[in-house]
Amino acid sequence: MDLVDVDDLTTDELHAVLDRAADIKAGRAAGNPEKPLADQTLAMIFEKPSTRTRVSFETGMTRLGGHAIFLGPDDIHLGHGEPIKDTARAVARYADFIMARVFDHSDVEELAEYATVPVVNGLTDDAHPCQTLADLLTIRERFGFDTSVAWVGDGNNVCQSFVLGAAMVGLDLTVATPPEYDVDDDVLARADELGAAPETTTDPDAAVEDADVIYTDVWVSMGQEDEREEKLSAFDGFQLTRDFVGDRTVMHCLPAHRGEEITDDVLESENAIVWDQAENRLHAQNGLLVWLSEQ
Ligand code: CP
Ligand code: NVA
Repeated sequence: MDLVDVDDLTTDELHAVLDRAADIKAGRAAGNPEKPLADQTLAMIFEKPSTRTRVSFETGMTRLGGHAIFLGPDDIHLGHGEPIKDTARAVARYADFIMARVFDHSDVEELAEYATVPVVNGLTDDAHPCQTLADLLTIRERFGFDTSVAWVGDGNNVCQSFVLGAAMVGLDLTVATPPEYDVDDDVLARADELGAAPETTTDPDAAVEDADVIYTDVWVSMGQEDEREEKLSAFDGFQLTRDFVGDRTVMHCLPAHRGEEITDDVLESENAIVWDQAENRLHAQNGLLVWLSEQ
């Protein structure tokens, strides 16, 4: 079983992973840490930089009694010097899990196809399911799923996995993007199959009208640095400012580009729950790893 995107889980499995995450989090807070992954190793493959994904997976494995190995772009042969399918089969003979952050979504699909251990997507250009698990855990803790969320920003990786997760748990979601940066049609179609596709619009003001929570992400994603000027211009009017946000709760997967998709005062305000989101990366992933180890 792999987590290439959040819909690799059934809806019941998604709730089970969130329950497992909440139990591990509560156990830790109560001083009863679980060590169910003793002697187990997570291989972490990174083609792109990371703060949260790297540190939360590595510290998470330590907390669970296991070990994590960081494999950066210059450390292994992945994609240059060895085909992905060979890396997948070799690493799977040593490690109990593989987590990979790569550019092309098809690369994580290939890793998953050839590895004989669970492969977890730590972000591709198209998806970020671990972020969605943490986001859903955070929303569930704060509000439950009977709440209304507006996505305002780029319709790429973080948004696309969130669209699928929201459909699975029944969140009321509206997505506002500039027309050329919208969510892929096949993701919307999949969300429809899973529950309901979000309402989509190019008007950020209309999107947030009935929302309790506003969620955004950077406008210039990793690997898109050459598109910077074009994207800043396309996203004009999509910034989360004090006036735009009002008294709504604000989510951001981080890292934030202050002064672009969000102002510093909004990010630093009490409306922002971004540090809880960041912390929940660790708990959500621990729930996932333990749940995967039990399958
Ligand atoms: N949100 C997230 O994945 O952060 P990093 O890029 O720091 O891992
Ligand atoms: N959309 C961002 C998310 C970072 C976690 C990126 O791909 O860079």
